[in-house]
Amino acid sequence: RPPTRRAEEIDNDQHPVGHGRMLRKEDPRFVRGRGRYTDDVRLPGMLHMAILRSPVAHARIVSVDTSAAEAHPGVRAVITGEALAAQGLAWMPTLSNDVQAVLATDKVRFQGQEVACVVADDRYAARDALELIDVEYDILPPVVDARHALDADAPVIRDDLEGKADNHCFDWEAGDAAATDAVFADADVVVSQDVVYPRVHPAPMETCGCVADFDPVEGRLTLWSTSQAPHAHRTLYALVAGLPEHKIRVISPDIGGGFGNKVPIYPGYVCAIVGSLLTGKPVKWMEDRSENLTSTGFARDYIMRGEIAATKDGKILALRTNVLADHGAFNGTAAPVKYPAGFFGVFTGSYDLKAAYCHMTAVYTNKAPGGVAYACSFRITEAVYLVERLVSRLAAELGQDPARLRLANFIRPDQFPYATPTGWVYDSGDYAATLREAMRIAGYDDLRAEQARRRERGELMGIGVSTFTEAVGAGPRKHMDILGLGMADGCDLRVHPTGKAVVRLSVQSQGQGHETTFAQIVGEELGISPDDIDVVHGDTDNTPFGLGTYGSRSTPVSGAAAALVARKVRDKARVIASAMLEVAPDDLEWVKGSFQVAGDPGRSVTIQEIAMRAHGAGDLPEGVEGSLDAQITYNPPNLTYPNGAYICVVDVDPGTAQVRVRRFVAVDDCGTRINPMIIEGQVHGGLADGLGMALMEIIAFDPEGNCLGGSLMDYLIPTALETPDWETGFTVTPSPHHPIGAKGVGESATVGSPAAIVNAVIDALAPYGITGLDMPLTPSRVWEAMQGHPTPP
Ligand code: CDP
Repeated sequence: RPPTRRAEEIDNDQHPVGHGRMLRKEDPRFVRGRGRYTDDVRLPGMLHMAILRSPVAHARIVSVDTSAAEAHPGVRAVITGEALAAQGLAWMPTLSNDVQAVLATDKVRFQGQEVACVVADDRYAARDALELIDVEYDILPPVVDARHALDADAPVIRDDLEGKADNHCFDWEAGDAAATDAVFADADVVVSQDVVYPRVHPAPMETCGCVADFDPVEGRLTLWSTSQAPHAHRTLYALVAGLPEHKIRVISPDIGGGFGNKVPIYPGYVCAIVGSLLTGKPVKWMEDRSENLTSTGFARDYIMRGEIAATKDGKILALRTNVLADHGAFNGTAAPVKYPAGFFGVFTGSYDLKAAYCHMTAVYTNKAPGGVAYACSFRITEAVYLVERLVSRLAAELGQDPARLRLANFIRPDQFPYATPTGWVYDSGDYAATLREAMRIAGYDDLRAEQARRRERGELMGIGVSTFTEAVGAGPRKHMDILGLGMADGCDLRVHPTGKAVVRLSVQSQGQGHETTFAQIVGEELGISPDDIDVVHGDTDNTPFGLGTYGSRSTPVSGAAAALVARKVRDKARVIASAMLEVAPDDLEWVKGSFQVAGDPGRSVTIQEIAMRAHGAGDLPEGVEGSLDAQITYNPPNLTYPNGAYICVVDVDPGTAQVRVRRFVAVDDCGTRINPMIIEGQVHGGLADGLGMALMEIIAFDPEGNCLGGSLMDYLIPTALETPDWETGFTVTPSPHHPIGAKGVGESATVGSPAAIVNAVIDALAPYGITGLDMPLTPSRVWEAMQGHPTPP
């Protein structure tokens, strides 16, 4: 078990992978406005598509009259659900083996659902023609509150499913119910808490869209699309639309943020493909902001009741939870098939427990489908939020300090690999070291002293703690697949004759800096400068098959693939070097970038010389083919389990109830750090996400099912004005099973931060006796809560 090292003990900048903090190779094109996004694709003769969406949440479609739209100047085609049904394309599978309407035929089931689309010469004509489509709706009562979805008199949303007589979606459980009940029965203290993680939206800067170009002569479809998983999308298009897979090329160019929003296949993509098939022209579809917010994959929407059992001196014994999950009108959850609740099973957090049990009921409601992992690994954000609220609540009940209560209950370093009561095997970590580091940076004891002084003056200062374990890097493929596609990823590496290299990946960057960090990994293994290594991704014709980027899986899976493929190339280089130096391969030592004869450093050949030899004239050693390249597919043996400890300091204005995050300390442990600068950027972004969810983001609905978060005037996301200067630190506990010990990090901060902020606000409000408050903690919500309680002395 490799030991955990703290920031002071390991200066990562001195021992970087590749070139450590090197600037991002992709940034010159981004900062000069030369990024090439889907909407930048302009093809000769390209047409434009717009989608007519349902204005209501639940209605039967009586008729759709498209005649006026068809007559509108510039319109080339109007497509309805009925027309798609004739081709067997009106419905498509979701990522969770449910079906979803491409264009509605029988009913509309959420506001914003796709009803028809227009393909026209330009975007304006397409949009104008939408207004001319006459749809007659027979309005039905909607199901908006998940708590009433299973009421006997609730309207049945999914009457398209044979025999469906209610809105039940699925039930799921994890852990041992009886064993957990027994521990609870014997516990000195049981604390329970209702916790809602509201519906939020990833809201990437670039909305979703595509350009579909079907070539009727070649029978070939090229699709530029905002996809986090181009290979998986291609296979699904082939399976659903019956197009031969080798005739489909999916290109995912630069992507302006994904956060899970660009994992599903949306009806718009399918309609654009149909539009191109019908017209024989390329068809572009780009959604606007409201379409993105109201119709594409939402996240969270879990109504949770959690219970925690402990001894009276604060030893946590067990956790129990019951969850009501709102899945919207179609179950579009993006998660490995065997995990309908994603990785919610890690709700036991970083604690050494005797038992745990979770039961979940998921229901259909008249809201957009989704359940995407918004910057988290499949529902871990919800899990972490629940357990971290519960532990802080327990600390308050016991009158103990929340940081010290956590320190006393963590899984200890010598317990790894640690099997949790719900069946996860954590690989490594030193949770106490991480929290102590956060307490050191924050000056925790001084903060508590300051809080006591301020309380005496009637000031509402709060200190919130959150510690978390993430589970990132899905597969292994024997347990994890998306619609039957195993979660493993390929990597190809080719070293050119002059020693420059190209590495091809199946994962797809949406801004995370893969072109830099993957070049660093290969550069470190081969002793080639990362500047001399090109990273190719996002094009199914030019990259190996794999499941794409989400759930911080790129570094755990493809990062491992990149290291191993480079080692494979190095093994081949050793054999060629042994011939060049006329010694046995075993007599060679690898000294970064060259092979040396053991004990005779004067005799060596560089990787560049070997590359030239591999392609050059003359014979190669027996059994060695020419060229210097290799290919692998990496099936991870386990997930990697990064962890972190976050401390947040807030001030709540006693008059206006406005919450100001004064300080935020985030200490993350993602194992071996490849590029510390990129990691800090990922953490900063994730913390801003977490602050948004804690304080302002919510996709809410009125009683008729109208979405109240359909624009960025209503769906508030944080700006530089609300975000504090983040203070970051790190510890390093390498993953024992990852070839370079790296764990994922992209989403850690989004996972860990909401609980720290909410815990801080609840801590600030302790003088009012407030013990629970649901996100987002807007001034009005906090103010209302304060009104219900007596003003503190
Ligand atoms: O899958 P995704 O790229 O979203 O997440 P990730 O694998 O956590 O990586 C996010 C970025 O941080 C990538 O550029 C990684 O290579 C980088 N990273 C790193 O430098 N060191 C780590 N231990 C983990 C990630």
